[in-house]
Amino acid sequence: MKIIMLGAPGAGKGTQAKMIADKYSIPHVSTGDIFRANIKNGTALGMEAKKYMDQGQLVPDELTVKILLDRVAQEDCKNGYVLDGFPRTIPQAEVLDKALTELGDSIDYAINVDVPDENIINRMSGRRACVACGATYHIVHIPTKVEGICDRCGAELILRDDDKPETVKKRLDVYHTQTQPLIDYYTAKGVLREVDGTKDMKDVFADIVKLLEQ
Ligand code: AP5
Ligand code: MG
Repeated sequence: MKIIMLGAPGAGKGTQAKMIADKYSIPHVSTGDIFRANIKNGTALGMEAKKYMDQGQLVPDELTVKILLDRVAQEDCKNGYVLDGFPRTIPQAEVLDKALTELGDSIDYAINVDVPDENIINRMSGRRACVACGATYHIVHIPTKVEGICDRCGAELILRDDDKPETVKKRLDVYHTQTQPLIDYYTAKGVLREVDGTKDMKDVFADIVKLLEQ
C-alpha cells in the first residue's frame, strides 16, 4: 500500500502517518524528519535545508526529490510506505509518478487531512517533537508521561525552530500557493480521500482506517 498524506502544516499528517505505519507495518517516510535529522547531525544537506526551513520556505525540488527517491528505493519500502510531507509541489508529484510508472506501480491513496488555518497556529505552538524517533506530542492535547521526555524512546523533546507564529504564517501561505494544488492533482487521478482533521486524533485515525479498508 502506497499512501500520501496531504494537509497544511500542523494538520496532523505526521501524527496520522505514524499510526498508519504501525498498523500496516509499512515505513513512515517524512522529508521534514529526514531534513531535521540532517540538521541535527550537521550534514551539508542539513545546512542547506535549514536556510529554507527556518524561513518557512520549501527546500528546492532538486534536493528534495533525490532524497525521497533514494529513500523509497530501499528494501523496507518494497511493500509500500506512507509519505508525509512529500510531494509538496506539482513537479515533485510528477517526478514521483514517473518513477512509480517506470516500476509499473502507482499511489493507492492521497489522504487530505483537512484543518482550517485558525486551528493550526495553536497546535503548532504546543507541539513538541522527538528528533531521535520522530514522535510528536502536544503539551495540552497529547502530553507525554514525563514532561519534555519522549514516551517512545526516552530522548529529550524539542520545540521546532519553524514553529514560531510568524514562520507558521509563512508556511501556511506557502502551503496554499504551492501544495494545495495537489488536492486537484490527486482528485483527477481518482485517489484523493478527505478526512476531517479537527476531530480527536483517534477519531481521525478511525476515519482513515475506514476509508483504507472499504
Ligand atoms: P514538515 O516537517 O513536513 O512540516 P509541515 O508540513 O509544515 O507539517 P508539520 O510537521 O508541521 O505538521 P503535521 O501535519 O505533520 O502535524 P503533526 O502531526 O506534527 O516540513 C518542514 C519543512 O521542511 C517545510 O516547511 C520545508 O521547508 C521542508 N520540507 C519538508 N518536506 C519538503 C518537500 N517535500 N519539499 C520541500 N520542502 C520540504 O501535528 C501538529 C501538532 O498538532 C502536534 O503537536 C500534534 O500532537 C497535534 N495534533 C495532531 N493531530 C491532532 C488532533 N487531531 N487534535 C489535536 N491536536 C493534534
Ligand atoms: Mg510533520
